[in-house]
Amino acid sequence: MGFKNSKVAIVGIGNVGATTAYSIINQGLCEEVVLIDINKDKAYAEALDMQHSIYFMNRNITVKAGDYSDCADADVVVITASAPMPKDSHNRLEMLTPSMNIMKSIVDSVMDSGFNGIFLIVSNPVDIMTYYVWRLSGLPKNQVIGSGTTLDTARLCCELSQLYELDSKSVEAFVIGEHGDSELVSWSSATIGGKSVSDVMEDNMSRTGDNTKDKLLQQTKEAGWDIFNRKGNTSYGIAASATAIIKSILFNENRILPVSVCLSGQYNLKNLFLSVPTIINKRGAKEIVEIKLTKDEMDALQHSASVVQDFYKDLQI
Ligand code: 2OP
Repeated sequence: MGFKNSKVAIVGIGNVGATTAYSIINQGLCEEVVLIDINKDKAYAEALDMQHSIYFMNRNITVKAGDYSDCADADVVVITASAPMPKDSHNRLEMLTPSMNIMKSIVDSVMDSGFNGIFLIVSNPVDIMTYYVWRLSGLPKNQVIGSGTTLDTARLCCELSQLYELDSKSVEAFVIGEHGDSELVSWSSATIGGKSVSDVMEDNMSRTGDNTKDKLLQQTKEAGWDIFNRKGNTSYGIAASATAIIKSILFNENRILPVSVCLSGQYNLKNLFLSVPTIINKRGAKEIVEIKLTKDEMDALQHSASVVQDFYKDLQI
Protein backbone atom coordinates (compact mmCIF):
# COMPACT_ATOMS: atom_id res chain seq x y z
CA MET A 1 0.00 0.00 0.00
CA GLY A 2 1.30 3.44 -0.89
CA PHE A 3 2.17 5.93 1.80
CA LYS A 4 1.00 9.45 1.18
CA ASN A 5 3.29 12.24 2.28
CA SER A 6 1.84 15.36 3.83
CA LYS A 7 2.51 17.99 1.25
CA VAL A 8 2.20 21.75 0.88
CA ALA A 9 2.59 23.46 -2.49
CA ILE A 10 3.24 27.19 -2.57
CA VAL A 11 2.47 29.21 -5.68
CA GLY A 12 4.39 32.48 -5.87
CA ILE A 13 7.91 32.38 -4.46
CA GLY A 14 8.49 36.05 -3.74
CA ASN A 15 9.23 37.29 -0.23
CA VAL A 16 5.96 36.04 1.22
CA GLY A 17 6.04 32.64 -0.49
CA ALA A 18 9.67 31.95 0.34
CA THR A 19 9.31 33.10 3.94
CA THR A 20 6.20 30.94 4.34
CA ALA A 21 8.05 27.91 2.96
CA TYR A 22 10.95 28.48 5.33
CA SER A 23 8.61 28.95 8.26
CA ILE A 24 6.83 25.65 7.44
CA ILE A 25 10.18 23.86 7.21
CA ASN A 26 11.40 25.39 10.45
CA GLN A 27 8.31 24.16 12.24
CA GLY A 28 8.50 20.73 10.59
CA LEU A 29 4.87 20.81 9.50
CA CYS A 30 4.90 18.33 6.62
CA GLU A 31 7.04 15.90 4.65
CA GLU A 32 7.17 17.73 1.38
CA VAL A 33 7.15 21.39 0.33
CA VAL A 34 6.90 22.26 -3.36
CA LEU A 35 7.74 25.73 -4.63
CA ILE A 36 6.03 26.88 -7.82
CA ASP A 37 6.81 30.14 -9.56
CA ILE A 38 6.61 31.51 -13.07
CA ASN A 39 10.31 32.31 -12.60
CA LYS A 40 11.60 28.74 -12.50
CA ASP A 41 15.15 29.79 -11.62
CA LYS A 42 13.92 31.65 -8.57
CA ALA A 43 11.88 28.66 -7.38
CA TYR A 44 14.82 26.33 -8.05
CA ALA A 45 17.28 28.55 -6.17
CA GLU A 46 15.00 29.07 -3.17
CA ALA A 47 14.32 25.32 -2.99
CA LEU A 48 18.01 24.46 -3.19
CA ASP A 49 18.87 27.01 -0.52
CA MET A 50 16.15 25.63 1.75
CA GLN A 51 17.23 22.02 1.11
CA HIS A 52 20.59 22.85 2.65
CA SER A 53 18.89 24.16 5.78
CA ILE A 54 17.21 20.77 6.38
CA TYR A 55 20.46 19.41 7.82
CA PHE A 56 19.84 21.68 10.83
CA MET A 57 16.11 21.10 11.19
CA ASN A 58 14.19 18.75 13.43
CA ARG A 59 12.46 16.99 10.60
CA ASN A 60 13.69 15.64 7.28
CA ILE A 61 11.60 17.47 4.72
CA THR A 62 11.79 17.28 0.95
CA VAL A 63 11.86 20.77 -0.56
CA LYS A 64 11.77 21.08 -4.30
CA ALA A 65 10.82 23.39 -7.13
CA GLY A 66 7.91 21.96 -9.03
CA ASP A 67 5.02 22.65 -11.33
CA TYR A 68 1.25 22.53 -11.14
CA SER A 69 1.11 18.75 -11.51
CA ASP A 70 2.63 18.63 -8.02
CA CYS A 71 -0.63 20.07 -6.65
CA ALA A 72 -2.54 16.88 -7.52
CA ASP A 73 -1.96 15.24 -4.13
CA ALA A 74 -1.11 18.34 -2.06
CA ASP A 75 -2.94 18.73 1.25
CA VAL A 76 -2.68 22.50 1.02
CA VAL A 77 -2.00 24.82 -1.90
CA VAL A 78 -0.96 28.29 -0.75
CA ILE A 79 -1.25 31.14 -3.23
CA THR A 80 0.86 34.22 -2.57
CA ALA A 81 1.36 35.29 -6.19
CA SER A 82 0.20 38.72 -7.32
CA ALA A 83 1.16 41.62 -9.52
CA PRO A 84 3.77 43.83 -7.84
CA MET A 85 2.32 46.28 -5.33
CA PRO A 86 2.84 49.88 -6.56
CA LYS A 87 5.52 51.54 -4.41
CA ASP A 88 3.29 54.43 -3.34
CA SER A 89 0.23 52.25 -2.68
CA HIS A 90 -1.80 52.59 0.50
CA ASN A 91 -4.70 50.36 -0.45
CA ARG A 92 -4.68 46.61 -1.06
CA LEU A 93 -7.78 46.92 -3.25
CA GLU A 94 -5.61 48.51 -5.97
CA MET A 95 -4.05 45.09 -6.47
CA LEU A 96 -7.25 43.48 -7.70
CA THR A 97 -7.24 44.41 -11.39
CA PRO A 98 -3.56 43.72 -12.09
CA SER A 99 -3.65 40.41 -10.17
CA MET A 100 -6.96 39.04 -11.43
CA ASN A 101 -5.67 37.27 -14.55
CA ILE A 102 -2.69 35.89 -12.65
CA MET A 103 -5.05 34.38 -10.10
CA LYS A 104 -7.33 32.92 -12.75
CA SER A 105 -4.53 31.18 -14.59
CA ILE A 106 -3.10 29.81 -11.32
CA VAL A 107 -6.41 28.41 -10.13
CA ASP A 108 -7.18 26.86 -13.53
CA SER A 109 -3.76 25.18 -13.54
CA VAL A 110 -4.07 23.93 -9.96
CA MET A 111 -7.54 22.52 -10.62
CA ASP A 112 -6.36 20.86 -13.86
CA SER A 113 -3.94 18.83 -11.73
CA GLY A 114 -6.89 17.21 -9.96
CA PHE A 115 -6.26 19.06 -6.67
CA ASN A 116 -8.86 18.44 -4.01
CA GLY A 117 -7.19 19.78 -0.87
CA ILE A 118 -7.40 23.09 0.97
CA PHE A 119 -6.61 26.38 -0.74
CA LEU A 120 -5.01 29.02 1.46
CA ILE A 121 -5.07 32.38 -0.27
CA VAL A 122 -2.65 35.05 0.87
CA SER A 123 -2.57 37.32 -2.23
CA ASN A 124 -4.18 40.73 -1.80
CA PRO A 125 -6.84 41.98 -1.76
CA VAL A 126 -7.16 38.73 0.14
CA ASP A 127 -10.91 38.65 0.87
CA ILE A 128 -11.87 39.28 -2.74
CA MET A 129 -9.18 36.93 -4.06
CA THR A 130 -10.39 34.16 -1.76
CA TYR A 131 -13.96 34.57 -3.02
CA TYR A 132 -12.57 34.55 -6.57
CA VAL A 133 -10.68 31.30 -5.96
CA TRP A 134 -13.79 29.73 -4.47
CA ARG A 135 -15.81 30.65 -7.55
CA LEU A 136 -13.12 29.63 -10.03
CA SER A 137 -12.23 26.35 -8.36
CA GLY A 138 -15.72 25.06 -7.72
CA LEU A 139 -14.43 23.53 -4.48
CA PRO A 140 -16.71 23.30 -1.44
CA LYS A 141 -16.52 26.44 0.68
CA ASN A 142 -14.77 24.75 3.61
CA GLN A 143 -11.80 24.03 1.29
CA VAL A 144 -11.10 27.68 0.47
CA ILE A 145 -9.62 29.93 3.16
CA GLY A 146 -7.96 33.35 3.07
CA SER A 147 -5.29 34.44 5.56
CA GLY A 148 -7.57 37.43 6.20
CA THR A 149 -7.22 39.24 9.50
CA THR A 150 -5.14 36.56 11.22
CA LEU A 151 -2.19 38.92 10.74
CA ASP A 152 -4.09 42.03 11.90
CA THR A 153 -5.17 40.09 14.98
CA ALA A 154 -1.53 39.29 15.73
CA ARG A 155 -0.65 42.95 15.24
CA LEU A 156 -3.38 44.12 17.62
CA CYS A 157 -2.49 41.52 20.26
CA CYS A 158 1.16 42.56 19.91
CA GLU A 159 0.30 46.24 20.56
CA LEU A 160 -1.89 45.44 23.55
CA SER A 161 0.66 43.04 25.01
CA GLN A 162 3.38 45.68 24.77
CA LEU A 163 1.25 48.22 26.65
CA TYR A 164 0.77 45.84 29.55
CA GLU A 165 4.09 43.96 29.25
CA LEU A 166 2.51 40.60 28.47
CA ASP A 167 2.97 37.67 26.16
CA SER A 168 0.82 38.54 23.13
CA LYS A 169 -0.71 35.05 23.33
CA SER A 170 -2.37 36.11 26.60
CA VAL A 171 -4.48 38.61 24.66
CA GLU A 172 -7.60 37.37 22.91
CA ALA A 173 -8.84 40.21 20.75
CA PHE A 174 -10.00 39.46 17.22
CA VAL A 175 -9.73 41.79 14.28
CA ILE A 176 -12.55 40.80 11.93
CA GLY A 177 -13.97 41.86 8.56
CA GLU A 178 -11.88 42.94 5.58
CA HIS A 179 -8.09 42.66 5.72
CA GLY A 180 -7.97 46.38 4.96
CA ASP A 181 -9.35 49.76 5.91
CA SER A 182 -12.85 48.62 6.85
CA GLU A 183 -11.68 46.01 9.38
CA LEU A 184 -12.88 46.22 12.99
CA VAL A 185 -12.18 44.78 16.41
CA SER A 186 -14.83 42.79 18.25
CA TRP A 187 -13.94 44.72 21.42
CA SER A 188 -17.03 43.56 23.29
CA SER A 189 -15.61 40.03 23.43
CA ALA A 190 -11.90 40.93 23.73
CA THR A 191 -10.14 39.74 26.86
CA ILE A 192 -6.74 39.72 28.51
CA GLY A 193 -6.34 36.92 31.02
CA GLY A 194 -10.09 36.49 31.15
CA LYS A 195 -10.66 40.19 31.92
CA SER A 196 -12.37 42.39 29.38
CA VAL A 197 -9.97 44.64 27.48
CA SER A 198 -12.17 47.63 28.41
CA ASP A 199 -11.63 46.87 32.11
CA VAL A 200 -7.92 46.26 31.63
CA MET A 201 -7.57 49.62 29.86
CA GLU A 202 -9.51 51.44 32.56
CA ASP A 203 -7.88 49.74 35.54
CA ASN A 204 -4.36 50.38 34.24
CA MET A 205 -4.54 54.00 33.16
CA SER A 206 -0.84 54.63 33.74
CA ARG A 207 0.00 51.90 31.22
CA THR A 208 -2.89 52.64 28.89
CA GLY A 209 -1.77 56.29 28.62
CA ASP A 210 -3.50 58.10 25.77
CA ASN A 211 -4.26 54.90 23.90
CA THR A 212 -7.88 54.44 22.97
CA LYS A 213 -9.56 51.57 21.18
CA ASP A 214 -9.84 53.70 18.06
CA LYS A 215 -6.15 54.50 18.18
CA LEU A 216 -5.23 50.84 18.62
CA LEU A 217 -7.34 49.87 15.62
CA GLN A 218 -5.80 52.67 13.59
CA GLN A 219 -2.28 51.50 14.49
CA THR A 220 -3.24 47.95 13.56
CA LYS A 221 -4.43 49.11 10.15
CA GLU A 222 -1.31 51.19 9.61
CA ALA A 223 1.15 48.49 10.75
CA GLY A 224 1.38 46.86 7.31
CA TRP A 225 2.09 50.22 5.68
CA ASP A 226 4.65 51.16 8.36
CA ILE A 227 6.56 48.08 7.21
CA PHE A 228 5.80 48.26 3.47
CA ASN A 229 6.84 51.91 3.18
CA ARG A 230 10.23 51.15 4.71
CA LYS A 231 11.17 47.75 3.30
CA GLY A 232 8.94 47.40 0.24
CA ASN A 233 7.05 44.35 1.44
CA THR A 234 5.90 42.60 4.57
CA SER A 235 6.92 39.00 5.03
CA TYR A 236 7.54 37.55 8.51
CA GLY A 237 4.17 38.38 10.04
CA ILE A 238 2.15 37.18 7.07
CA ALA A 239 4.29 34.06 6.69
CA ALA A 240 3.83 33.20 10.37
CA SER A 241 0.07 33.78 10.05
CA ALA A 242 -0.14 31.49 7.02
CA THR A 243 1.98 28.90 8.82
CA ALA A 244 -0.34 28.90 11.84
CA ILE A 245 -3.31 28.27 9.54
CA ILE A 246 -1.46 25.49 7.68
CA LYS A 247 -0.47 23.90 11.00
CA SER A 248 -4.05 23.84 12.17
CA ILE A 249 -5.04 22.13 8.90
CA LEU A 250 -2.24 19.56 8.75
CA PHE A 251 -2.25 18.71 12.46
CA ASN A 252 -6.05 18.74 12.58
CA GLU A 253 -5.78 21.14 15.53
CA ASN A 254 -9.25 22.68 15.54
CA ARG A 255 -7.60 25.99 16.41
CA ILE A 256 -9.76 29.09 16.16
CA LEU A 257 -8.27 31.78 13.94
CA PRO A 258 -9.90 34.78 12.24
CA VAL A 259 -9.52 33.66 8.62
CA SER A 260 -11.39 34.81 5.55
CA VAL A 261 -14.21 32.32 5.07
CA CYS A 262 -17.42 31.99 3.12
CA LEU A 263 -20.28 33.08 5.34
CA SER A 264 -23.55 31.21 5.00
CA GLY A 265 -25.93 33.27 7.06
CA GLN A 266 -23.68 33.89 10.06
CA TYR A 267 -23.60 37.58 11.03
CA ASN A 268 -26.49 38.02 8.54
CA LEU A 269 -24.05 37.59 5.66
CA LYS A 270 -24.15 35.06 2.87
CA ASN A 271 -21.94 33.91 -0.01
CA LEU A 272 -19.16 36.37 0.68
CA PHE A 273 -15.74 36.05 2.24
CA LEU A 274 -14.69 38.03 5.30
CA SER A 275 -12.64 37.17 8.36
CA VAL A 276 -14.39 35.91 11.44
CA PRO A 277 -13.16 33.45 14.07
CA THR A 278 -13.24 30.00 12.49
CA ILE A 279 -12.38 26.49 13.66
CA ILE A 280 -9.69 25.15 11.35
CA ASN A 281 -8.83 21.49 10.94
CA LYS A 282 -7.98 18.97 8.23
CA ARG A 283 -11.29 19.72 6.52
CA GLY A 284 -10.28 23.39 6.25
CA ALA A 285 -12.82 25.85 7.62
CA LYS A 286 -14.70 23.40 9.81
CA GLU A 287 -17.05 25.78 11.57
CA ILE A 288 -17.59 29.51 11.93
CA VAL A 289 -17.79 30.90 15.43
CA GLU A 290 -20.57 33.45 15.79
CA ILE A 291 -19.53 35.86 18.50
CA LYS A 292 -22.08 38.28 19.89
CA LEU A 293 -21.34 41.69 18.46
CA THR A 294 -22.68 45.03 19.67
CA LYS A 295 -24.85 46.98 17.25
CA ASP A 296 -21.94 49.24 16.28
CA GLU A 297 -19.67 46.26 15.67
CA MET A 298 -22.36 44.55 13.61
CA ASP A 299 -22.88 47.72 11.56
CA ALA A 300 -19.14 47.97 10.96
CA LEU A 301 -19.02 44.33 9.83
CA GLN A 302 -21.91 44.89 7.42
CA HIS A 303 -20.07 47.93 6.05
CA SER A 304 -16.93 45.82 5.60
CA ALA A 305 -19.02 43.24 3.72
CA SER A 306 -20.38 45.89 1.37
CA VAL A 307 -16.85 47.17 0.66
CA VAL A 308 -15.60 43.77 -0.53
CA GLN A 309 -18.84 42.74 -2.21
CA ASP A 310 -18.76 45.87 -4.38
CA PHE A 311 -15.74 44.41 -6.17
CA TYR A 312 -17.34 41.05 -7.00
CA LYS A 313 -18.91 42.46 -10.17
CA ASP A 314 -15.43 43.26 -11.54
CA LEU A 315 -14.29 39.64 -11.33
CA GLN A 316 -14.09 37.67 -14.56
CA ILE A 317 -15.45 34.27 -13.68
C1 2OP B 1 0.15 42.96 5.29
O1 2OP B 1 -0.78 43.49 5.90
C2 2OP B 1 0.70 43.23 2.95
O2 2OP B 1 -1.41 42.55 3.55
C3 2OP B 1 -0.08 42.48 3.91
O3 2OP B 1 1.27 42.82 5.79
